[in-house]
Amino acid sequence: MTILPKHVAVIMDGNGRWAQAHGHPRIYGHTVGTEKVEEIIRAAADTGIRYLTLYAFSKENWQRPKAEVNFLMSLLSSYLDKKAQLFITEGLVFRTIGRTEDLPKPIREKMGRLAEQTRHHKGMTVIFAVSYSSRLEIADACRKIACDVRDGKLKAEDITEKTVAGYLDTADIPDPDLLIRTSGEMRISNYLLWQISYAELYFTEKYWPEFGREDFMKALEEYQNRERRFGKTEAQAGAAAIAARQSAAKKPHGEGER
Ligand code: IPE
Ligand code: IPE
Ligand code: MG
Repeated sequence: MTILPKHVAVIMDGNGRWAQAHGHPRIYGHTVGTEKVEEIIRAAADTGIRYLTLYAFSKENWQRPKAEVNFLMSLLSSYLDKKAQLFITEGLVFRTIGRTEDLPKPIREKMGRLAEQTRHHKGMTVIFAVSYSSRLEIADACRKIACDVRDGKLKAEDITEKTVAGYLDTADIPDPDLLIRTSGEMRISNYLLWQISYAELYFTEKYWPEFGREDFMKALEEYQNRERRFGKTEAQAGAAAIAARQSAAKKPHGEGER
């Protein structure tokens, strides 16, 4: 791989439609979809990606039928029980973003424990977006900034893009380079609106339960053929890409700032 995205964000969508297309109830799709998560975590870690953010449950998803929400919560809970060991043995860092205070207490506690246990790991960071809403995250950041200005901790005239980014849940995480959405929907659904400003977007028709390692690699391959210009001209962007490749080639696999 020449230039590898440092951070990949995924909207794991299409569980319900996949199940129904196979003659099963929607919740069966969530079970199979949850089982697929490990395959993508392993594929990303094996490739040398440093951050993987997975949209597991949105703030808006609370509006689904109670039985489906309860099922998703029990799946999340058993996922944490079953997969905690994966994070330990593979040296992965576990993190969450979103309104985790909305979650049942036992789940919050399991998440807190796993985050604490894996905080010092050196492997890829896996970030689960749970009860997540990007607009809410931005509104929360605005409120915290306003309070800090009121309390004299921050001057209004000193507020920059970096200040705002620093008040988001993702404060110490670099922006995603690549966003993948499965299931054919071409929308962002309130996910990382600030952070994906310059991410490359990749949409696939495959439903999440049928999205595997090879599909993930295909997305990475397509990413490598994109030209990221960041507002500059083709010639400027080309020169910057060559410089980035040369500097990446000098570093051992996976090395670099976190
Ligand atoms: C993604 O699959 C999982 C969650 C949103 C929790 P969906 O449940 O949205 O499946 P579709 O999109 O309705 O098929
Ligand atoms: C986005 O999927 C949220 C997750 C994948 C967890 P949705 O299925 O909730 O999004 P919409 O409703 O189709 O936009
Ligand atoms: Mg969906």
